[in-house]
Amino acid sequence: MNILVLNGPNLNLLGKREPEIYGTESLSDIAQLLKEKYPDHHIECKQSNAEAELITWIGNAVSTYDGIIINPAALTHTSLGLYDALKAISPKVPAIEVHLSNTHQREEIRHKSLTAAACIGQIMGFRGYGYVLAMDALIRHLQSDS
Ligand code: DQA
Repeated sequence: MNILVLNGPNLNLLGKREPEIYGTESLSDIAQLLKEKYPDHHIECKQSNAEAELITWIGNAVSTYDGIIINPAALTHTSLGLYDALKAISPKVPAIEVHLSNTHQREEIRHKSLTAAACIGQIMGFRGYGYVLAMDALIRHLQSDS
């Protein structure tokens, strides 16, 4: 399987950013963990602070990727554009939404996800391990689909 792992704004700072909330693993630690755990799959990890860039990557995923794991970060709570992009490629390219923190335990503004409704499922609260859980669920979904 060809899997695209997308990360939104400020996740480039992971490891140094509010470690009490997000943990001490960096994004490249998480990418390495995924590649070690899933050596039989091609996994591409990308991060952008720009909504437009994430939307373009999602739109282009149809021709290249079987599925997407996405942590839209703050854009989760604001971006209709990301919702539309994920909707546009589904169900051909299914997506799973991941959050490092349990956003329901945090400020109310983080309780609502605009993007989750365009995804097959959502995993949150398990820090970097959430990406592994998402990968497991996505591969299962793709295999049961074919
Ligand atoms: C986050 C949660 C968001 O509310 C926040 O804006 C982030 C990270 C998470 O992974 O817990 O940047 O998506």
